[in-house]
Amino acid sequence: MLNKKTPIQKINGQFKGKDIVSLDQFDRKSIKMLFKTTNRVLRLMKKNRHINILRGTVSTLLFYEPSSRTLASFSGAIKRLGGETISYQDPLETSSAIKGETYEDSMKVFESYSDLLIIRHFEFGMGERAATAALYKPVINAGDGTNEHPTQGLLDLYTIDKNIGSLDNLTGLIAGDLLYGRTLHSLLKGLSLFKNNTIYLLSPRSLRLPIDRIEFLRKRGMKLVEVNSVNDIPKNCAFWYWTRVQKERFKNLNEYAKVKNKFILTPSLVKKKGNKNMILMHPLPRVGEIDTAVDSDPRAIYLGDQIRNGLYTRMALVSLILGRI
Ligand code: NCD
Repeated sequence: MLNKKTPIQKINGQFKGKDIVSLDQFDRKSIKMLFKTTNRVLRLMKKNRHINILRGTVSTLLFYEPSSRTLASFSGAIKRLGGETISYQDPLETSSAIKGETYEDSMKVFESYSDLLIIRHFEFGMGERAATAALYKPVINAGDGTNEHPTQGLLDLYTIDKNIGSLDNLTGLIAGDLLYGRTLHSLLKGLSLFKNNTIYLLSPRSLRLPIDRIEFLRKRGMKLVEVNSVNDIPKNCAFWYWTRVQKERFKNLNEYAKVKNKFILTPSLVKKKGNKNMILMHPLPRVGEIDTAVDSDPRAIYLGDQIRNGLYTRMALVSLILGRI
């Protein structure tokens, strides 16, 4: 007999069998535990290239929205640990959804075939709906519309912690599309669990962080400073987290055209407003908001360390959820 799960529980240091839908489920201890496990996975990989801790497990990836990094890094993470994957890109075209099967039914079908579901969807809240529809197996939200992208948030926190050495007492900058960018919604929730953090928010006025999110973060003690010009970036940021204006969320593409190139990260901006110890991050894909001339700067880790950390943290997270580590 399969045991029914309680959907979307707090993690509380115990990952096995749990859904990962939002950073709201995390506390500091659970985040640090994931980091420890990530470091352990890295040590195991150094010792032995083939660590089969996921052998005999099947994870299903259902991506209702295009993805390259997240899909490939989840598949890569699972396969490197000896697990199997079933993978659907665009299930609305390629699965029974085309015949009219409901989302809830699809989740029940796919959970019967697998140990874990990993879902990306273009609509807000579909991570939660999948986790609730799947009665027995855990669900990881790999991005639901403009809401959250918890595994990206976790890998970003890991990257900051590893490179800066702390998640407390930070001054950082998050720039770009703060309204629709789900990765930064998760990252901000994560950072707000730690002490004494000040985050500068740089965006076009029409793409500001929604007020309910601002209030939530401030209640937790985070200091948020909204700015509208690169001139207002303080010199002491530990990280800059640049993001893409999310074209696909705009109903009117003229509106998109007006804001897409408002803030561009260039070598001269780094020179003017940066410092030598900072890191430059981006969840990718980048579509022009970071000048490629920045890429060779050793502080630019978006195409290197940050990407690799996505693989490692996902290896650790899946192993923890499946109770294999
Ligand atoms: C992001 C996403 O899908 O939200 N990409 C990713 O998973 N790293 C960011 C984006 O699309 O801009």
